Amino acid sequence: MKLAVLFGGISSEHDISCLSAASILRNLNKDKYEIYPVGITRDGEWFYCPDCDPDRVESGAWERMTGKVKVVLAPDRGMHGMVLLREGEIEIVRLDCVFPVLHGVGGEDGTMQGLLELAGIPYVGCGVAASANTMDKALTKKVVEGTGVRQARYYLALRYDFERNAEAVVAAAAETLGAFPVFVKPCSQGSSVGVAKANNLLELAEGLTEAFKLDTKVLVEEFIDGHEVECAVLGNLEPQASTVGEIAPTQEFYTFDAKYKDESSRLYIPAHITEEQIATVRQDAVRVYTALGCRGLSRVDFFVTHDSGEVVFNELNAIPGFTSISMYPKLFDYEGIGYAELLDRLISLALEEHNG
Ligand SMILES: Nc1ncnc2c1ncn2[C@@H]1O[C@H](COP(=O)(O)OP(=O)(O)O)[C@@H](O)[C@H]1O
Ligand SMILES: [Mg+2]
Repeated sequence: MKLAVLFGGISSEHDISCLSAASILRNLNKDKYEIYPVGITRDGEWFYCPDCDPDRVESGAWERMTGKVKVVLAPDRGMHGMVLLREGEIEIVRLDCVFPVLHGVGGEDGTMQGLLELAGIPYVGCGVAASANTMDKALTKKVVEGTGVRQARYYLALRYDFERNAEAVVAAAAETLGAFPVFVKPCSQGSSVGVAKANNLLELAEGLTEAFKLDTKVLVEEFIDGHEVECAVLGNLEPQASTVGEIAPTQEFYTFDAKYKDESSRLYIPAHITEEQIATVRQDAVRVYTALGCRGLSRVDFFVTHDSGEVVFNELNAIPGFTSISMYPKLFDYEGIGYAELLDRLISLALEEHNG
Protein backbone atom coordinates (compact mmCIF):
# COMPACT_ATOMS: atom_id res chain seq x y z
CA MET A 1 0.00 0.00 0.00
CA LYS A 2 1.46 3.31 -1.10
CA LEU A 3 1.00 5.92 1.63
CA ALA A 4 2.10 9.56 1.42
CA VAL A 5 2.75 11.31 4.74
CA LEU A 6 2.46 15.09 4.41
CA PHE A 7 4.25 17.25 6.98
CA GLY A 8 5.47 20.78 7.67
CA GLY A 9 3.13 23.24 6.00
CA ILE A 10 2.50 26.96 5.87
CA SER A 11 0.90 27.49 9.29
CA SER A 12 2.43 28.76 12.52
CA GLU A 13 2.40 25.12 13.68
CA HIS A 14 4.92 23.99 11.03
CA ASP A 15 7.44 22.70 13.59
CA ILE A 16 4.81 20.83 15.59
CA SER A 17 3.71 19.09 12.41
CA CYS A 18 7.30 17.92 11.82
CA LEU A 19 7.42 16.49 15.37
CA SER A 20 4.10 14.69 14.90
CA ALA A 21 5.13 13.34 11.47
CA ALA A 22 8.49 12.06 12.74
CA SER A 23 6.68 9.95 15.35
CA ILE A 24 4.22 8.67 12.77
CA LEU A 25 7.02 7.77 10.34
CA ARG A 26 8.82 5.88 13.12
CA ASN A 27 5.74 3.90 14.08
CA LEU A 28 4.12 3.01 10.73
CA ASN A 29 4.47 -0.68 9.94
CA LYS A 30 7.02 -0.82 7.11
CA ASP A 31 5.78 -4.27 6.04
CA LYS A 32 2.32 -2.88 5.37
CA TYR A 33 3.08 0.51 3.90
CA GLU A 34 5.38 1.83 1.24
CA ILE A 35 5.89 5.28 2.71
CA TYR A 36 6.34 8.48 0.74
CA PRO A 37 7.34 11.35 3.05
CA VAL A 38 6.37 14.70 1.53
CA GLY A 39 7.53 17.88 3.23
CA ILE A 40 5.87 21.25 2.67
CA THR A 41 8.02 24.30 3.46
CA ARG A 42 6.80 27.36 5.33
CA ASP A 43 6.50 29.05 1.93
CA GLY A 44 4.34 26.23 0.64
CA GLU A 45 6.81 24.41 -1.61
CA TRP A 46 6.33 20.64 -1.82
CA PHE A 47 9.17 18.08 -1.78
CA TYR A 48 9.21 14.32 -1.81
CA CYS A 49 12.03 13.35 0.57
CA PRO A 50 13.01 9.79 -0.42
CA ASP A 51 15.93 9.25 1.95
CA CYS A 52 14.67 11.31 4.79
CA ASP A 53 14.80 9.57 8.17
CA PRO A 54 12.40 10.63 10.94
CA ASP A 55 15.17 12.38 12.90
CA ARG A 56 15.66 14.81 10.04
CA VAL A 57 11.92 15.41 9.78
CA GLU A 58 11.85 16.10 13.51
CA SER A 59 14.78 18.52 13.50
CA GLY A 60 13.73 20.35 10.33
CA ALA A 61 17.00 19.29 8.64
CA TRP A 62 14.95 17.64 5.83
CA GLU A 63 14.63 21.08 4.22
CA ARG A 64 18.37 21.38 3.68
CA MET A 65 18.90 17.85 2.34
CA THR A 66 19.99 17.14 -1.19
CA GLY A 67 18.03 14.51 -3.09
CA LYS A 68 14.66 16.12 -2.42
CA VAL A 69 12.38 15.91 -5.41
CA LYS A 70 9.84 18.57 -6.31
CA VAL A 71 6.42 17.02 -6.25
CA VAL A 72 2.88 17.95 -7.27
CA LEU A 73 -0.20 16.33 -5.79
CA ALA A 74 -2.39 16.09 -8.86
CA PRO A 75 -6.12 16.89 -8.71
CA ASP A 76 -6.38 14.72 -11.85
CA ARG A 77 -8.14 11.51 -10.83
CA GLY A 78 -6.55 9.62 -13.70
CA MET A 79 -3.20 10.07 -11.99
CA HIS A 80 -4.58 9.30 -8.52
CA GLY A 81 -1.43 10.44 -6.83
CA MET A 82 1.59 12.62 -7.21
CA VAL A 83 3.89 13.70 -9.98
CA LEU A 84 7.61 13.68 -9.18
CA LEU A 85 9.44 16.36 -11.14
CA ARG A 86 12.92 14.90 -11.47
CA GLU A 87 15.44 16.69 -13.64
CA GLY A 88 14.60 15.87 -17.24
CA GLU A 89 11.87 13.37 -16.41
CA ILE A 90 8.60 13.06 -14.60
CA GLU A 91 7.30 10.08 -12.68
CA ILE A 92 3.73 9.46 -11.59
CA VAL A 93 3.24 7.64 -8.27
CA ARG A 94 -0.27 6.23 -7.72
CA LEU A 95 -1.18 6.57 -4.06
CA ASP A 96 -3.55 4.38 -2.06
CA CYS A 97 -3.86 6.78 0.84
CA VAL A 98 -2.59 10.11 2.16
CA PHE A 99 -1.98 10.97 5.81
CA PRO A 100 -1.96 14.77 6.15
CA VAL A 101 -0.01 15.33 9.37
CA LEU A 102 -0.47 19.07 9.11
CA HIS A 103 -1.72 21.35 11.84
CA GLY A 104 -3.53 24.59 11.22
CA VAL A 105 -4.09 26.65 8.11
CA GLY A 106 -3.44 24.86 4.81
CA GLY A 107 -3.60 21.40 6.38
CA GLU A 108 -6.30 21.09 9.00
CA ASP A 109 -8.73 23.67 7.61
CA GLY A 110 -10.31 21.87 4.66
CA THR A 111 -8.06 23.22 1.92
CA MET A 112 -5.80 20.16 1.75
CA GLN A 113 -8.85 17.96 2.18
CA GLY A 114 -10.39 19.71 -0.85
CA LEU A 115 -7.37 18.90 -2.98
CA LEU A 116 -7.49 15.26 -1.86
CA GLU A 117 -11.21 15.08 -2.63
CA LEU A 118 -10.56 16.38 -6.13
CA ALA A 119 -7.76 13.84 -6.53
CA GLY A 120 -10.10 11.06 -5.38
CA ILE A 121 -7.50 9.69 -2.97
CA PRO A 122 -8.51 8.33 0.44
CA TYR A 123 -7.06 10.39 3.30
CA VAL A 124 -6.88 10.17 7.06
CA GLY A 125 -9.15 12.42 9.10
CA CYS A 126 -12.01 14.85 8.69
CA GLY A 127 -13.48 15.94 5.36
CA VAL A 128 -13.70 19.44 3.90
CA ALA A 129 -16.64 20.90 5.83
CA ALA A 130 -15.74 19.37 9.21
CA SER A 131 -12.15 20.56 8.85
CA ALA A 132 -13.23 24.08 7.89
CA ASN A 133 -15.77 24.31 10.71
CA THR A 134 -13.44 23.00 13.39
CA MET A 135 -10.54 25.21 12.30
CA ASP A 136 -12.68 28.30 12.82
CA LYS A 137 -13.55 28.66 16.51
CA ALA A 138 -16.56 30.91 15.75
CA LEU A 139 -18.05 28.40 13.28
CA THR A 140 -17.43 25.61 15.79
CA LYS A 141 -19.41 27.60 18.40
CA LYS A 142 -22.35 27.92 16.02
CA VAL A 143 -22.53 24.18 15.34
CA VAL A 144 -22.05 23.25 19.00
CA GLU A 145 -24.83 25.67 20.03
CA GLY A 146 -27.27 23.21 18.50
CA THR A 147 -26.09 20.24 20.57
CA GLY A 148 -26.97 21.35 24.08
CA VAL A 149 -23.34 20.92 25.18
CA ARG A 150 -22.26 23.87 27.31
CA GLN A 151 -19.53 26.19 26.03
CA ALA A 152 -18.06 29.51 27.19
CA ARG A 153 -20.12 32.63 26.43
CA TYR A 154 -18.46 34.74 23.77
CA TYR A 155 -18.34 37.87 21.68
CA LEU A 156 -17.19 37.63 18.07
CA ALA A 157 -15.06 40.64 17.06
CA LEU A 158 -14.27 41.47 13.44
CA ARG A 159 -11.10 43.20 12.26
CA TYR A 160 -13.16 45.35 9.91
CA ASP A 161 -15.00 46.86 12.89
CA PHE A 162 -11.91 47.05 15.11
CA GLU A 163 -10.00 49.04 12.52
CA ARG A 164 -12.81 51.56 12.29
CA ASN A 165 -13.69 51.88 15.96
CA ALA A 166 -11.53 49.84 18.34
CA GLU A 167 -13.02 51.45 21.45
CA ALA A 168 -16.54 50.45 20.50
CA VAL A 169 -15.49 46.84 19.88
CA VAL A 170 -13.66 46.66 23.24
CA ALA A 171 -16.69 48.14 25.02
CA ALA A 172 -19.14 45.80 23.30
CA ALA A 173 -17.06 42.72 24.15
CA ALA A 174 -16.68 43.77 27.79
CA GLU A 175 -20.39 44.53 28.07
CA THR A 176 -21.45 41.22 26.51
CA LEU A 177 -19.28 39.20 28.88
CA GLY A 178 -19.94 41.35 31.92
CA ALA A 179 -16.78 40.50 33.90
CA PHE A 180 -13.02 40.08 33.69
CA PRO A 181 -10.85 38.13 33.12
CA VAL A 182 -11.69 37.18 29.55
CA PHE A 183 -9.82 35.17 26.93
CA VAL A 184 -8.94 36.61 23.54
CA LYS A 185 -8.43 34.07 20.74
CA PRO A 186 -7.92 34.42 17.00
CA CYS A 187 -10.55 32.19 15.34
CA SER A 188 -8.23 30.20 13.11
CA GLN A 189 -4.96 29.68 14.94
CA GLY A 190 -3.85 26.80 17.15
CA SER A 191 -1.18 25.93 19.72
CA SER A 192 -2.30 28.98 21.74
CA VAL A 193 -0.76 31.34 19.15
CA GLY A 194 -2.31 34.79 19.69
CA VAL A 195 -4.29 33.63 22.76
CA ALA A 196 -4.25 36.04 25.71
CA LYS A 197 -5.93 36.42 29.08
CA ALA A 198 -7.14 39.95 29.66
CA ASN A 199 -7.83 41.28 33.16
CA ASN A 200 -9.12 44.72 32.24
CA LEU A 201 -10.18 46.96 29.34
CA LEU A 202 -6.61 47.94 28.51
CA GLU A 203 -5.41 44.34 28.32
CA LEU A 204 -8.48 43.46 26.26
CA ALA A 205 -7.61 46.21 23.77
CA GLU A 206 -4.00 45.01 23.64
CA GLY A 207 -5.06 41.38 23.23
CA LEU A 208 -7.39 42.28 20.37
CA THR A 209 -4.71 44.35 18.64
CA GLU A 210 -2.29 41.39 18.74
CA ALA A 211 -4.92 38.83 17.75
CA PHE A 212 -6.04 40.90 14.76
CA LYS A 213 -2.48 40.74 13.43
CA LEU A 214 -3.12 37.01 12.93
CA ASP A 215 -6.76 36.82 11.95
CA THR A 216 -9.75 38.80 10.71
CA LYS A 217 -12.05 37.21 13.31
CA VAL A 218 -11.33 37.05 17.04
CA LEU A 219 -13.32 35.49 19.88
CA VAL A 220 -13.53 37.11 23.29
CA GLU A 221 -14.65 34.48 25.79
CA GLU A 222 -15.73 34.33 29.39
CA PHE A 223 -12.97 32.86 31.58
CA ILE A 224 -13.68 29.29 32.64
CA ASP A 225 -11.96 28.35 35.87
CA GLY A 226 -11.54 24.60 35.71
CA HIS A 227 -9.56 21.47 34.99
CA GLU A 228 -8.42 21.33 31.37
CA VAL A 229 -9.34 17.93 30.03
CA GLU A 230 -9.13 16.23 26.64
CA CYS A 231 -10.86 13.26 25.08
CA ALA A 232 -9.64 11.36 22.02
CA VAL A 233 -12.29 10.25 19.53
CA LEU A 234 -11.71 7.65 16.82
CA GLY A 235 -14.08 6.45 14.09
CA ASN A 236 -16.42 7.47 11.31
CA LEU A 237 -20.16 7.10 11.84
CA GLU A 238 -19.82 5.10 15.06
CA PRO A 239 -17.01 6.91 16.85
CA GLN A 240 -15.49 5.69 20.11
CA ALA A 241 -14.29 8.03 22.82
CA SER A 242 -11.22 7.28 24.91
CA THR A 243 -10.87 7.92 28.60
CA VAL A 244 -10.24 11.54 29.54
CA GLY A 245 -6.81 13.08 30.12
CA GLU A 246 -5.95 16.24 32.02
CA ILE A 247 -3.39 18.92 31.37
CA ALA A 248 -1.88 20.65 34.34
CA PRO A 249 0.06 23.60 33.00
CA THR A 250 2.43 25.25 35.44
CA GLN A 251 2.02 28.58 33.63
CA GLU A 252 -1.04 30.77 33.99
CA PHE A 253 -2.76 28.95 31.12
CA TYR A 254 -1.79 26.40 28.50
CA THR A 255 0.39 28.69 26.36
CA PHE A 256 2.56 27.76 23.37
CA ASP A 257 5.60 27.49 25.66
CA ALA A 258 3.71 25.41 28.19
CA LYS A 259 2.66 23.06 25.39
CA TYR A 260 6.01 22.54 23.70
CA LYS A 261 8.88 24.03 25.69
CA ASP A 262 8.12 23.88 29.38
CA GLU A 263 8.76 20.32 30.52
CA SER A 264 6.98 20.89 33.81
CA SER A 265 3.44 20.85 32.37
CA ARG A 266 1.92 17.50 33.30
CA LEU A 267 -0.56 15.12 31.74
CA TYR A 268 -2.75 12.92 33.90
CA ILE A 269 -4.51 9.90 32.47
CA PRO A 270 -7.20 9.53 33.62
CA ALA A 271 -8.00 13.12 34.56
CA HIS A 272 -8.38 14.08 38.22
CA ILE A 273 -12.14 14.39 37.99
CA THR A 274 -14.97 12.08 39.04
CA GLU A 275 -16.05 8.96 37.15
CA GLU A 276 -19.34 10.67 36.42
CA GLN A 277 -17.58 13.72 34.96
CA ILE A 278 -15.41 11.45 32.82
CA ALA A 279 -18.56 9.78 31.50
CA THR A 280 -20.11 13.17 30.69
CA VAL A 281 -16.98 14.37 28.88
CA ARG A 282 -16.88 11.18 26.77
CA GLN A 283 -20.54 11.50 25.88
CA ASP A 284 -20.24 15.21 25.03
CA ALA A 285 -17.09 14.55 22.99
CA VAL A 286 -18.99 12.14 20.75
CA ARG A 287 -21.92 14.56 20.51
CA VAL A 288 -19.68 17.40 19.38
CA TYR A 289 -17.72 15.13 17.01
CA THR A 290 -20.91 13.86 15.42
CA ALA A 291 -22.54 17.29 15.15
CA LEU A 292 -19.47 18.64 13.37
CA GLY A 293 -19.43 15.66 11.00
CA CYS A 294 -15.92 14.55 11.94
CA ARG A 295 -14.31 11.43 10.48
CA GLY A 296 -11.28 9.40 11.45
CA LEU A 297 -10.06 11.23 14.50
CA SER A 298 -10.29 14.36 16.60
CA ARG A 299 -9.29 15.45 20.06
CA VAL A 300 -12.14 17.17 21.85
CA ASP A 301 -11.12 19.56 24.65
CA PHE A 302 -13.19 20.63 27.65
CA PHE A 303 -13.01 22.36 31.00
CA VAL A 304 -14.52 20.86 34.15
CA THR A 305 -15.22 23.80 36.41
CA HIS A 306 -13.69 23.91 39.88
CA ASP A 307 -16.80 25.23 41.63
CA SER A 308 -19.79 23.37 40.18
CA GLY A 309 -18.01 20.55 38.33
CA GLU A 310 -19.77 21.46 35.12
CA VAL A 311 -18.39 20.18 31.81
CA VAL A 312 -17.73 23.00 29.31
CA PHE A 313 -16.64 22.34 25.72
CA ASN A 314 -13.59 24.35 24.61
CA GLU A 315 -12.48 23.28 21.15
CA LEU A 316 -12.02 20.38 18.76
CA ASN A 317 -8.72 19.60 17.05
CA ALA A 318 -9.19 17.68 13.82
CA ILE A 319 -5.47 16.86 13.53
CA PRO A 320 -4.24 16.77 17.12
CA GLY A 321 -0.59 16.62 18.15
CA PHE A 322 0.66 13.13 17.41
CA THR A 323 4.09 12.74 18.97
CA SER A 324 4.53 9.65 21.13
CA ILE A 325 4.05 11.85 24.21
CA SER A 326 1.01 13.69 22.82
CA MET A 327 -2.33 13.29 24.54
CA TYR A 328 -4.20 11.72 21.60
CA PRO A 329 -2.04 8.60 21.17
CA LYS A 330 -1.49 8.34 24.93
CA LEU A 331 -5.23 8.24 25.59
CA PHE A 332 -5.70 5.35 23.17
CA ASP A 333 -2.61 3.64 24.52
CA TYR A 334 -4.38 3.70 27.89
CA GLU A 335 -7.34 2.02 26.19
CA GLY A 336 -5.04 -0.74 24.94
CA ILE A 337 -4.64 0.54 21.39
CA GLY A 338 -0.91 1.08 20.84
CA TYR A 339 0.54 3.73 18.55
CA ALA A 340 1.17 1.49 15.51
CA GLU A 341 -2.25 -0.10 15.78
CA LEU A 342 -3.83 3.35 16.07
CA LEU A 343 -2.18 4.34 12.78
CA ASP A 344 -3.48 1.15 11.12
CA ARG A 345 -6.99 1.94 12.34
CA LEU A 346 -6.83 5.51 11.04
CA ILE A 347 -5.74 4.32 7.62
CA SER A 348 -8.49 1.66 7.54
CA LEU A 349 -11.04 4.32 8.50
CA ALA A 350 -9.80 6.51 5.64
CA LEU A 351 -10.31 3.68 3.13
CA GLU A 352 -13.71 2.83 4.64
CA GLU A 353 -14.88 6.44 4.36
CA HIS A 354 -13.66 6.67 0.78
CA ASN A 355 -15.32 3.44 -0.30
CA GLY A 356 -18.57 4.54 1.35
N1 LIG B 1 -12.51 30.55 27.99
C1 LIG B 1 -11.35 30.15 28.54
N2 LIG B 1 -11.20 30.11 29.89
C2 LIG B 1 -10.04 29.71 30.46
N3 LIG B 1 -8.94 29.36 29.76
C3 LIG B 1 -9.02 29.38 28.42
C4 LIG B 1 -10.23 29.76 27.74
N4 LIG B 1 -10.01 29.67 26.41
C5 LIG B 1 -8.75 29.26 26.27
N5 LIG B 1 -8.13 29.08 27.46
C6 LIG B 1 -6.72 28.68 27.66
O1 LIG B 1 -5.98 28.97 26.47
C7 LIG B 1 -5.48 27.77 25.87
C8 LIG B 1 -5.56 27.88 24.35
O2 LIG B 1 -6.89 28.11 23.93
P1 LIG B 1 -7.62 27.14 22.89
O3 LIG B 1 -9.01 27.60 22.74
O4 LIG B 1 -7.44 25.73 23.31
O5 LIG B 1 -6.85 27.46 21.53
P2 LIG B 1 -5.73 26.68 20.69
O6 LIG B 1 -6.43 26.27 19.43
O7 LIG B 1 -4.68 27.69 20.44
O8 LIG B 1 -5.26 25.50 21.49
C9 LIG B 1 -6.32 26.67 26.47
O9 LIG B 1 -5.63 25.43 26.46
C10 LIG B 1 -6.58 27.20 27.88
O10 LIG B 1 -5.43 27.00 28.71
MG1 LIG C 1 -6.36 24.11 22.52
